[in-house]
Amino acid sequence: MPRIAYVNGRYVNHGEAGVHIEDRGYQFADGVYEVCEVRHGVIVDLTRHLDRLDRSLSEIRINPPMTRAALTHVIREVLRRNRVRNGLFYLQVTRGAARRDHVFPAAGTPSTLVVTAKSTSPEVIAAKNVSGIKAITLPDNRWERVDIKTVGLLPNVLARQQAKEAGAQEAIYIDRDGMVTEGAATNVWIVDKEGNLVTRPADPGILRGITRTTLMGVADKLGVSIVERRFSREEMLEAREVFITAATSICFPVVEIDGRTIANGHPGDVSRSIRQTFFDIAEKTAI
Ligand code: PDD
Repeated sequence: MPRIAYVNGRYVNHGEAGVHIEDRGYQFADGVYEVCEVRHGVIVDLTRHLDRLDRSLSEIRINPPMTRAALTHVIREVLRRNRVRNGLFYLQVTRGAARRDHVFPAAGTPSTLVVTAKSTSPEVIAAKNVSGIKAITLPDNRWERVDIKTVGLLPNVLARQQAKEAGAQEAIYIDRDGMVTEGAATNVWIVDKEGNLVTRPADPGILRGITRTTLMGVADKLGVSIVERRFSREEMLEAREVFITAATSICFPVVEIDGRTIANGHPGDVSRSIRQTFFDIAEKTAI
């Protein structure tokens, strides 16, 4: 079955899908994106993802490419045409194609909208949940507006590659004060010595993850108290549990960081129960 992508009003074969060489996403990383999970045939937390898309667009002053109803229709259509039951959709909006010039193109230049979808294997994700993953830490060298989900991800790309070359799956950023910000493509959580679930406040130092927001409701239901505060690399290494969250993985336990074993080296109970309860709490939208 051929993969199908949506590009500016057309459903096209994935292999042949493309945008103009002077698309501002390609030239300047002048665009934003969303990644949203699909599980057991439903879209997870769609409203929150589309709300964040609206925010990202307004922060960089791009008009929404279409109404929310129309966009939801396109997303569903792409998922249906690719027969995705477990996987994700990827959505990108850029400031459109125009003769290269740093300033915004003429008013009325249509933005570029691309939506793709792919299936992922629940078994591969489940295996990582059983074994846990490894991470490295590195200095946070990104710009200050990481609260905007922009396609400008070069630091994140280099960080993930560095993690991979070190035999790890995620890179965790540390700010100038020695405090954890977030992962290259995930938010970071610890269970501290008092048993609190701790994550950095969603100040501009991190992306406000949708999984992070939904997980707050999950913790509430489980009776686990959440504290939003900064924590250091050292506190993370000594934590009872460390885990990372993102729409693509929900909640992966981290069992080793910079070659140091976390707690007893096995995934902890808190991340396990969160994972089990997550989909009861998350919003589910039929495809
Ligand atoms: N990344 N922080 C960063 C820097 C991210 O790129 C992401 C998601 C998150 C978690 O956000 P959410 O829970 O909304 O997925 C935090 C996506 C999955 C990606 O770039 O592929």
